[in-house]
Amino acid sequence: MNQEKFEIFASCIPGLEQELLSEIKRNSSKQTELMVGGVRLFGDWHDVWRANFYLRGASKILVRIASFRVSHLAQLDKLSHKLNWENILQYKKSFRVETTCRKSKIYHSGAASQRISKAISDKIDAKEDPTSRIIIKTRISSDICTISLDSSGEGLHKRGYKIESGKAPIRETLAALFLEKMKFDGSQVVYDPMCGSGTIVIEAAEIALGLPAGRNRTFAFMELPSFKNNKYQELTKVYQKKINLKFYGSDRDQGAILNSIKNSKKAGVETFCHFTTNSISNVTPPTQKPGIILVNPPYGKRIGDRKKLFALYRSLGQTLSEKFVGWRVGLITSDPGLAKATGLNFFDISSAVDNGGIKVKLYETKINHPQS
Ligand SMILES: C[S@@+](CC[C@H](N)C(=O)[O-])C[C@H]1O[C@@H](n2cnc3c(N)ncnc32)[C@H](O)[C@@H]1O
Repeated sequence: MNQEKFEIFASCIPGLEQELLSEIKRNSSKQTELMVGGVRLFGDWHDVWRANFYLRGASKILVRIASFRVSHLAQLDKLSHKLNWENILQYKKSFRVETTCRKSKIYHSGAASQRISKAISDKIDAKEDPTSRIIIKTRISSDICTISLDSSGEGLHKRGYKIESGKAPIRETLAALFLEKMKFDGSQVVYDPMCGSGTIVIEAAEIALGLPAGRNRTFAFMELPSFKNNKYQELTKVYQKKINLKFYGSDRDQGAILNSIKNSKKAGVETFCHFTTNSISNVTPPTQKPGIILVNPPYGKRIGDRKKLFALYRSLGQTLSEKFVGWRVGLITSDPGLAKATGLNFFDISSAVDNGGIKVKLYETKINHPQS
């Protein structure tokens, strides 16, 4: 599978597949297909490298190795041995296998992993290591076994700029997909008035500057025999766009603001970000021209007490209605009661998506003039 095209699966936070598809389509003309949990595309290793390096909304990039029907472990053992593992994995380099079984005659995931692991060991003379970042992911569902290679390694939300993460940070991939959902195209000002570690502001600045999401990290595919560093360097040159725009964040917690500044410096976008310490009741629009507010206030599950949060959400709603006429607002919260407490009229509420184990929704509105 070194030269030819194969199936590549860009997984994302379930519920935001359409947003990932929009991002992929904007960046390439490849054949794509919307799937549950991500987007399927066809390509070669260069496309795998590029997808990992550029995509902001993808959680992982998986390379499909094989798919076959299987009904017992001996058959899995035989079919796994037929695969050309030596063409895919590095000789003598450790790996690990993760298996899930669902509605199948093979129901013991550990035993299934062991068969595949043995087949790989026999071909590349390497041992399985639970800490290896080369992961073979196997799914046995309704007796169909699908084997993929995780080309990313660490999840793609790890961009490499989060030195300090604060109490309840939003995932970088989720921030990027919600910005996509709000049709942020890099030309609007973005303001997060409860910015915590600055994720939303930094993601917006990077998008506007056209910076690739993965430019400050490494990937598992770099440890595969298909990897050619010269070609990779050629395909992943970073061109920073010239922009005449800043991205704004504020938070009442000074420590959070110091974290945001540190993180924006690490990302190399500090000159395009402006962070200030301020409480929501005192904030004012950072620019005359209205832009986009994307904010995730405390939800009350991990930080804060829900009762006190009603007052906070009321204050947020009041500040936005009074001072931010013309701005588009995206509110991220897990609690419909708290969203209602803002008093804002939301024209769109997304389906529930996962943010670090908590289901959240994006509530969208535009602040209209009080008379309209
Ligand atoms: C869920 S966190 C935001 C996380 C952020 N999106 C990130 O990625 O790190 C909520 C933030 O709201 C801030 N906050 C709480 N009450 C506030 C208030 N009255 N005014 C401004 N910020 C407030 C907290 O300090 C906290 O940083």
